[in-house]
Amino acid sequence: MLKFENVDTNYGVVAMLREVSFEVGAGEVLCVLGPNGAGKTTTFRALSGLIRPVKGRIEIMGLDLAGTRTEALSGLGVGFVPEGRRLFADISVRDNIWLGFEAQGGKGSFEDRLEEMLQLFPRVRDRIRQRAGTLSGGEQAMVALARALIGGPKLVVMDEPSLGLSPKLIDEYFDTVAEINKRGTTVLLIEQNAETALSIADRGIMLVKGKVVATGTAAELLDSDEVRHLYL
Ligand SMILES: Nc1ncnc2c1ncn2[C@@H]1O[C@H](COP(=O)(O)OP(=O)(O)O)[C@@H](O)[C@H]1O
Ligand SMILES: [Mg+2]
Repeated sequence: MLKFENVDTNYGVVAMLREVSFEVGAGEVLCVLGPNGAGKTTTFRALSGLIRPVKGRIEIMGLDLAGTRTEALSGLGVGFVPEGRRLFADISVRDNIWLGFEAQGGKGSFEDRLEEMLQLFPRVRDRIRQRAGTLSGGEQAMVALARALIGGPKLVVMDEPSLGLSPKLIDEYFDTVAEINKRGTTVLLIEQNAETALSIADRGIMLVKGKVVATGTAAELLDSDEVRHLYL
């Protein structure tokens, strides 16, 4: 589904990712862990076509990302949940979700898909006509996920979705992510919150200062010195 191969990225002359490699198989949940500044958002930007690797290859569904723009990726069935949600605060929740539908090619009935999303995110139903900016952080997180899922993507990529959510909402949110994975969506979960991410992930990698310092199954990572040292 997704392949990162020896990827290097730079910010100007500053090296960020170095020789980063990982693969996400169809149907998997893979998490990318790491402390602040590790290169998680840089990984997300490289994946969404916003920055171009100076070395290595990124493939999504067999396509070389070097020549592919975010819009094209959305159209192919990749949903993105950026760091900080990035909703349009001044338009309605419904219109925000509709933009995701459009971006992903707008196939089939929006109303039917929206109903599916509202069953997945019952808290959003009462808010659907409100401006997105008036919602709580937790509700906005759900709208951002609904926007990424509305077109029925094969792969969804999330950057620190749990940031700013209460522990109870984090559990609810990750239960939903596990559910959409069970229904067939492959998930790349970029998270600082290792314990929660590993509770739903099959496998993961850990980044520190732009390099992969650990890789393994969720159980192996929970047990690894690198993760324990940083988190537990
Ligand atoms: N636009 C940029 N220009 C220069 N340096 C940047 C830029 N964005 C991020 N960085 C630096 O790259 C490093 C990794 O950032 P980032 O990928 O956002 O980390 P994370 O998401 O894991 O917290 C940090 O040291 C950060 O200061
Ligand atoms: Mg980040």
